[in-house]
Amino acid sequence: MSDPLKDKDLSTRAVHAGERAPRPDFTPVVTPIYPSIGYLYDDMDDLDAIFAGAREGYVYTRYGSPTVTAFEAAIANLEEGQAALAFASGMAAIHAALLGLGLRAGTSALVAQDVYGATYALFDRLLASQGVDVRFLDMADLGAVEGACEALRPRVLFLETISNPLLKVADIPALAQLAHACGAALVVDNTFATPYLCRPLSIGADVVIHSATKYIGGHGDALGGVVVTSTEHRHAMYEVLKMTGANLGPQEAWLLMRGLKTLPLRMARHCANALQVADGLAHMGEVTRVLYPGRPDHAGHRLATRLFGGQGYGGMVAFELRDADQEKVFRFFQALQLCLPATTLGDVYTLVLYPAHSSHRALSAAARARVGIGPGLVRMSVGIEAVEDILADVKQALDTVRYE
Ligand SMILES: Cc1ncc(COP(=O)(O)O)c(C=O)c1O
Repeated sequence: MSDPLKDKDLSTRAVHAGERAPRPDFTPVVTPIYPSIGYLYDDMDDLDAIFAGAREGYVYTRYGSPTVTAFEAAIANLEEGQAALAFASGMAAIHAALLGLGLRAGTSALVAQDVYGATYALFDRLLASQGVDVRFLDMADLGAVEGACEALRPRVLFLETISNPLLKVADIPALAQLAHACGAALVVDNTFATPYLCRPLSIGADVVIHSATKYIGGHGDALGGVVVTSTEHRHAMYEVLKMTGANLGPQEAWLLMRGLKTLPLRMARHCANALQVADGLAHMGEVTRVLYPGRPDHAGHRLATRLFGGQGYGGMVAFELRDADQEKVFRFFQALQLCLPATTLGDVYTLVLYPAHSSHRALSAAARARVGIGPGLVRMSVGIEAVEDILADVKQALDTVRYE
């Protein structure tokens, strides 16, 4: 084959040299990062067929990219779903999933009252302002859910497997029955539980969503979201994604896929550490209440044992500091030397967060009080460090606050 760069100017060769080598006869063990926005085919008809959806392939990164496809295949496999669709963030995934399910003016949604703050705001402000009838309720009250389903005939029931930040556990099989009886789709945010503990699609959910930024990635260095569902629902959400463009980038897809490989190892350690931290906190004088589904005193303990099959209870712990307000909680955070007061969760590092000023800041004080987020509530994402070191750090910080 003649060299197309032969006799070309330096600036032309600088642009094209080394690119588009003939296809290799090897397969990389790890999926490469494909940053290319455009794709070439030997025959222009192939490009046309891909645009038309008549054959698989890539034309433009907003329509899909090989690294992102690999990540989608991996998460669909772990969540035991037919297909997955990745997004730039967990919120983008939730938004597109709801639009793809047909939530629009004149339809209604039943939403767990203690979902993540931005999810609450998405329903309460954005979707409600666009004419969706949104009702928040306690999903543990199955009678109330049944009544609301019958009265509203909602298009969607939305909840979190383990809620943020109160760590309530949702009875997914029972809620799936109620949703389906009134023609609604059950949408489950499985961010806190991960497929290590629970695969909601296998117990009745129609759509599973993750903020992949959290346990899926696991290292606090990639923002992403993903939806796992049926091929049919994915198709509708993909049409939304092509128009709105909240795509996951290939670099992030690669990082998230690398994170997935150690998800079970990390989750086993997160769960073991969190149980010990929760028990340790319960014996610390400055702590008045510990919320952890792994403790027998948690309202969802038996349900969690059934749903999570004895694998553990997750890495998230919430607790109330005695007589605390924002100022005291902040002093506690500032006294911590190992645990990090950073606004995220699910990383290898132990993280603490004050829901009232970050994850649930979007809620009014009255709305926070209504769902049970008090002024002394702290949320801890227990990392994979040595548990003795985590507990020692919490104890010294509480001692500092007490004696200051
Ligand atoms: C349970 C849950 N769902 C969704 C989100 C939103 O994810 P992202 O920040 O990736 O948009 C978060 C973020 O903290 C979350 O905790």
